[in-house]
Amino acid sequence: MTAAPTVSETSYSDLKLLHRGKVRDVYEIDDNSLLLVATDRLSAFDCILPTPIEQKGEILTALSTFWFGRLESIVPHHLINADFDRMPPVVKSHAELRDRSVLVKRTKVFPVECVVRGYLEGSGWKDYQAAGSVCGHELPVGLRQCDRLPGPLFTPATKAAEGHDENISEERFAEIIGTEAAEKLRSLSLQIYADASDYALTRGIIIADTKFEFGLDSDGNILLIDEVLTPDSSRFWSAETYEPGRAQTSFDKQFVREYLETLDWDKKSPAPPLPDDVARATTERYLDAYRILTGNGLGK
Ligand SMILES: Nc1ncnc2c1ncn2[C@@H]1O[C@H](COP(=O)(O)OP(=O)(O)OP(=O)(O)O)[C@@H](O)[C@H]1O
Ligand SMILES: [Mg+2]
Repeated sequence: MTAAPTVSETSYSDLKLLHRGKVRDVYEIDDNSLLLVATDRLSAFDCILPTPIEQKGEILTALSTFWFGRLESIVPHHLINADFDRMPPVVKSHAELRDRSVLVKRTKVFPVECVVRGYLEGSGWKDYQAAGSVCGHELPVGLRQCDRLPGPLFTPATKAAEGHDENISEERFAEIIGTEAAEKLRSLSLQIYADASDYALTRGIIIADTKFEFGLDSDGNILLIDEVLTPDSSRFWSAETYEPGRAQTSFDKQFVREYLETLDWDKKSPAPPLPDDVARATTERYLDAYRILTGNGLGK
């Protein structure tokens, strides 16, 4: 069976585009709801690559939907409907939106990224090597790359409109969104990470770190929004091959990044295309992550 054609960008005369993110196109449905459309765009080094990744939008959508359901007892979420056949007619009339769209409650997004780190990698590892701490959290000496941290750390960042998100202190985090919301988002983030990482480990996946977004609904409730615990927003490692002291094989874009590192490219737009085999291997990695975490294939 062949997969549905890839979708790099969407645009419709009868749907109002509110925002085009790196991966999602966001449409207004009405005052209270939005349509989040996960395209097959892939970004690396903060640039969108010209090569779409088959099935990526579908996998991200299905995986986030799985997690929203699993985490429902910990945190309310923004999902209204993920079933294409029950979408409003204006959505259903665009067949390419099938399996990549969710109808969500429109929220006022907290302008922060709620990052939780359970292991030492990425910018955390760089911080630690330079200063012995991660985002102001002092850590024991002698930790190795990818070591498990003594306990998960909450390391918030700003949501930069352009380019890299910037790590901020918890004090700054509280200044931006208010003390009460800050405490709530921090504790929700750590609870979600604890529950999800325990579950993932039973499936053989380590969630090394991840990022959550939250928003306020019209009644003032804090909702988990955006995407959740996908290979785009998280570092997933295989527990079986995990070994601190080196970089881990991961289910995220590491494969793409490694290929791009072999090129003489300055990491500025426009990004180079990916060879077919790299694009296909990336689809396989995303499918693997979905299958392992949920225990189900995607029916293709
Ligand atoms: N329920 C919601 N209400 C309002 N906005 C939402 C909701 N869920 C997700 N969003 C927003 O939709 C956008 C999703 O797009 P995408 O993930 O592609 O963006 P991004 O490139 O990661 O970030 P950016 O917003 O910086 O473009 C994000 O801006 C996110 O904050
Ligand atoms: Mg995003």
